Amino acid sequence: MKIIDGKLVAQEIRAEIAKEVAVMIDNDIKAPHLVAILVGDDGASHTYVENKRKACESVGMTSSVYKFSENVSEKELLDTIDFLNNDNDVDGFIVQEPLPKHISSEKVLEKIDYRKDVDGFHPINVGKMMLGIDTFLPATPFGIVKLLERYKIETEGKNCVIIGRSHIVGSPLSMLLSRNTNPGNCTVTICHSKTKNLAEITSKADILIAALGKPQFVTADMVKEGATVIDVGTTRLPSTETKSGFKLFGDVKFDEVSKKCSYITPVPGGVGPMTIVGLLLNTLKAAKNRK
Ligand code: GUN
Repeated sequence: MKIIDGKLVAQEIRAEIAKEVAVMIDNDIKAPHLVAILVGDDGASHTYVENKRKACESVGMTSSVYKFSENVSEKELLDTIDFLNNDNDVDGFIVQEPLPKHISSEKVLEKIDYRKDVDGFHPINVGKMMLGIDTFLPATPFGIVKLLERYKIETEGKNCVIIGRSHIVGSPLSMLLSRNTNPGNCTVTICHSKTKNLAEITSKADILIAALGKPQFVTADMVKEGATVIDVGTTRLPSTETKSGFKLFGDVKFDEVSKKCSYITPVPGGVGPMTIVGLLLNTLKAAKNRK
């Protein structure tokens, strides 16, 4: 069994991005600027946004965070998006999800100028991705594709089973892995909460991707001998074992599944660091697209 070291690959790609940013700055071109909009007090969202901000700085990009209280009005948020759409100093921005219930995620998404949508969630970008037109790819699927590529994991003709159909991971990943590209050309099955005989389906997967957000859900009996297992889960649970008081749990029971598969991503240190790399690559792309 081989560990897919997302932390290491992320470091390599971040070094490549940092070089490109340094060249921009040497040529008197402004460094890429990413803005994150953060609403409310969700601890996990604060941590994710802080990690994104730090990642930007580590590669020489500029980053800003716009923080709003839980009860910000939808109008104020949409007006802020309008402002950022028109701010030439900002190359790309994200609105961290989840949003409070009184704010429509759909309206927020549609308000973002698709040319600054470095999350790749805008309907135009989703449509472009579906058609195979070059655009911003959602960060987590983008990061997973990069991992498969760097580890030279054969995907052509393989059975790929994805558990989870979110617009952030499962759904776009199914599109990327079934395209006529490399990585790609998989025969993809998406499973979800209404799927029957789940273990029967997952145990036929050459590549199994767990993106359902249920800690330790995938057990060894659900996995084919020699499969590649990608664990997208990052559930933060209170813990006395760590300084922060929280511990991250993946969707896969690593100890038992790792004995059976040929490749596996750990949590932490697998997909998580690659998600941030996906966002950095998109922000760099947005900056290169400046008029
Ligand atoms: N919440 C969980 N993942 C993401 C992500 O990739 N982007 C945003 N904006 N919110 C998230």
